[in-house]
Amino acid sequence: MYEQVTATSRAYLVGPSTKEPAMKAVRIHRYGDVDTLSYEDAPLPEPGPADVRIRVHAAAVNPVDWKIRAGYLAAMIPYQMPLTIGWDVSGVVDQLGAEVTGLSVGDAVYSRPDIMRNGTYAEYAVVRASEVSGKPQSLSHREAAAVPLAGLTAWQALFDHAQLKAGERVLIHAGAGGVGSFAIQFAKWAGAHVIATASASNAALVRDLGADEFVDYRSQRFESVLDKVDVVLDTIGGETQLRSIALLKRGGRLFSVVATPDHAALASAGATGGMFMVQPSSDDLSRIAELIDAGSVRVIIDSVFPLSQARAAHAKSQTGRAKGKIVLEVVPDERSGHADDAHQA
Ligand SMILES: NC(=O)c1ccc[n+]([C@@H]2O[C@H](COP(=O)([O-])OP(=O)(O)OC[C@H]3O[C@@H](n4cnc5c(N)ncnc54)[C@H](OP(=O)(O)O)[C@@H]3O)[C@@H](O)[C@H]2O)c1
Repeated sequence: MYEQVTATSRAYLVGPSTKEPAMKAVRIHRYGDVDTLSYEDAPLPEPGPADVRIRVHAAAVNPVDWKIRAGYLAAMIPYQMPLTIGWDVSGVVDQLGAEVTGLSVGDAVYSRPDIMRNGTYAEYAVVRASEVSGKPQSLSHREAAAVPLAGLTAWQALFDHAQLKAGERVLIHAGAGGVGSFAIQFAKWAGAHVIATASASNAALVRDLGADEFVDYRSQRFESVLDKVDVVLDTIGGETQLRSIALLKRGGRLFSVVATPDHAALASAGATGGMFMVQPSSDDLSRIAELIDAGSVRVIIDSVFPLSQARAAHAKSQTGRAKGKIVLEVVPDERSGHADDAHQA
């Protein structure tokens, strides 16, 4: 094992013959349950030529984090252990790769980095410069960290895949969740008629975010109480997805982030759709930051945990009941002493 010694401003990992700068990170050494998350010393990552290193102020938790931790994506992505978990970040550029232009040390940025690389539950993270954008200036880092993955997913689902247009009716499942809470606001901003599902306790939240209609999915069958819709954003899959296809108008579109829809069912409804994986996009993040800074979109924070409590944050995410986003705070926000700093759901 390593012996930790203190340097002027940063700890160093001291191996038998090497000395490498160290940081704290939350890593896994094998797939498994929350106990596999280890808050530990890790080498300080060095940026490649096209990368920036970010001093992480906050990293959000997404369901994909615990799915990767548990090994659900192991057949698809050959991760090397140890793996730093987490693919959402807000922080400050700390070091630039040799080929990076357009960014400077000290820039406040946010990103949803490539999920194939080490993640952001750490004091420092290396991210491709092309996946980074200036963080929304009106947000604290803990709020900004909550945006990229869920915000990009909602944006790309509605506008790139489903081609949502003003005046169309869109059904957004899990409107109180990370993706849904952004999707409601983006769809409303785009001039759509927005319908969201959630449990009754979240009715006020989704209406406040802009939903024109709300369906309590626990007590009502949405396909029995709603008129047909042009677009469905499916975050649930299974039977919910099949029942959603039946609700589509001819020419309607259903896009899922969890399961490939039944193409025969779509075809017989005269509709189209598919499943997609969110992609990093600096351009989309810039557009989203503009909407946030203009006051058109806000961030709902379910809870904030220190980095060292990533296990508790994962346990919370795995309940499937988060109201907005769960955040890991690495550097306490200057405003974080104030209870009204984050929009506590
Ligand atoms: N393919 C991709 O690129 C991609 C990207 C992002 C997310 N995803 C996936 O999309 C899913 C949603 O992500 P997320 O971040 O939004 O999750 P999340 O924040 O954990 O979602 C939690 C919300 O889901 C709601 N919910 C649970 N079951 C529901 C149901 N049957 N009907 C309606 N609402 C329900 C809960 O609302 P109540 O408490 O009111 O029940 C809760 O507010 C996850 O499986 C995630 O892995 C995929």
